[in-house]
Amino acid sequence: MTGGRLELQGLRKSFGGVVATDHVSLVFEPGTLSAIIGPNGAGKTTLFHLITGKLPPTAGRVLLDGEEITGLDRRAIVRRGIGRAFQVANLFPTFTVADALAAALMAHEGRTASLWRSFPPRDIAARAEEVMELCGLTPLARTISAELSHGDQKLLDIALALALDPKVLLLDEPTAGMGPDERWRMIERVHKLWAARGLTLVFIEHDMDIVFRIAQSVRVLRYGAVLAQGTPDEVRRDPAVIEAYLGAEHGL
Ligand SMILES: Nc1ncnc2c1ncn2[C@@H]1O[C@H](COP(=O)(O)OP(=O)(O)O)[C@@H](O)[C@H]1O
Ligand SMILES: [Mg+2]
Repeated sequence: MTGGRLELQGLRKSFGGVVATDHVSLVFEPGTLSAIIGPNGAGKTTLFHLITGKLPPTAGRVLLDGEEITGLDRRAIVRRGIGRAFQVANLFPTFTVADALAAALMAHEGRTASLWRSFPPRDIAARAEEVMELCGLTPLARTISAELSHGDQKLLDIALALALDPKVLLLDEPTAGMGPDERWRMIERVHKLWAARGLTLVFIEHDMDIVFRIAQSVRVLRYGAVLAQGTPDEVRRDPAVIEAYLGAEHGL
């Protein structure tokens, strides 16, 4: 599947008195690789929750390829083509990587394993193999998923997201909790699968080196609103961005 066009129109979310998302209007063009940055509490994760249907927006709309998906349930939104990372190792901790992927795929599609057919069915196994290859997990296919390193568990989550054939893939801090080496390996992987699949990929990341190295466009959130957007160079030089980050833990 190729990349979809994701459009957010006037998205707003408030929790009591806290406005977590403040009239966010953004377009992510098909096949692009975009980063969302912003200080802690800026509303980045909430924005993803509004897109994936985990939270209903207070106002505004989400459109995928021009069709409104706001208010659909989470599974329907995945089926329309919005991918996100599920925690596979938590779902099937005792399964091998290959079997966990197969089981998760079958569960997602409402298929049950049958006593008189081999598990996994051939079509499911083929899809699992393809995404394991893309995510560099083939050598770990027979490893018990709970025994994977933190980074490989994250890759397994992304592998499942890919197996569901998304048009748009949302990754919330894919490198969180990783050391420098593992972090770059993950980012290279993400870049590779984006290029291989032609996906529209949007990732939240707080490491500016990573963001400025791989993103084609950067959207900056602050207090729930879009503070700036543009190419990495444009954003890096934007006075409003520099000011927002002055004194913050992440220097630009
Ligand atoms: N379920 C919730 N209930 C109340 N407030 C929330 C909830 N989720 C997020 N918030 C608040 O919304 C703001 C944005 O949070 P979040 O989207 O997690 O920011 P980020 O991911 O950019 O760090 C914060 O002030 C946070 O405390
Ligand atoms: Mg967050």
